Amino acid sequence: MGILTCSDTRSEAEDTAGAALKDLIAARGWEVVAYTICPDEESCIAEALIEMADAINADVVLTCGGTGFSPRDITPEVTERVAGRRAPGIAEHIRAQSLAVTPRAMLSRGTAGVRGTTLIVNLPGSEKAARESFGFIADQLEHAVEMMAGGGH
Ligand code: MTE
Repeated sequence: MGILTCSDTRSEAEDTAGAALKDLIAARGWEVVAYTICPDEESCIAEALIEMADAINADVVLTCGGTGFSPRDITPEVTERVAGRRAPGIAEHIRAQSLAVTPRAMLSRGTAGVRGTTLIVNLPGSEKAARESFGFIADQLEHAVEMMAGGGH
């Protein structure tokens, strides 16, 4: 799995959400094959997503942050450009479950889509939100990966 943190302000030392995702991924026995931080800039985010999908062949890339309403939040738009096959059910489920935790979940515009055999999922940027959102989708990721590889049920 790849992790891409999207933030104008966070360095690796401050990226507690990215670190939490690394731990959650490892706890499931999955491997983190790429980890990058980009500012909220289309070129950096697009290049990182394309590299993780096309060159590194990550099965799943989790982005973290940049899904809100701030003027520079751009992660969902870049994700939709890079991952043309939409996976709306994943974002719908994250939002639906998150709304039971906090009404602020409606302020995440996160999306999900498939590029080749890589599933890209946007998670919100706080450590709490990233942890919760990962927990809502993690059980379905292995089946998603099998299906992208052409496997049946
Ligand atoms: N989702 C969950 N599960 N838990 C949360 O605490 N916080 C929300 C929302 N989604 C939250 C959540 C808040 S406060 C915001 S502003 C949006 O995610 C967008 O976050 P982002 O801009 O860091 O991506």
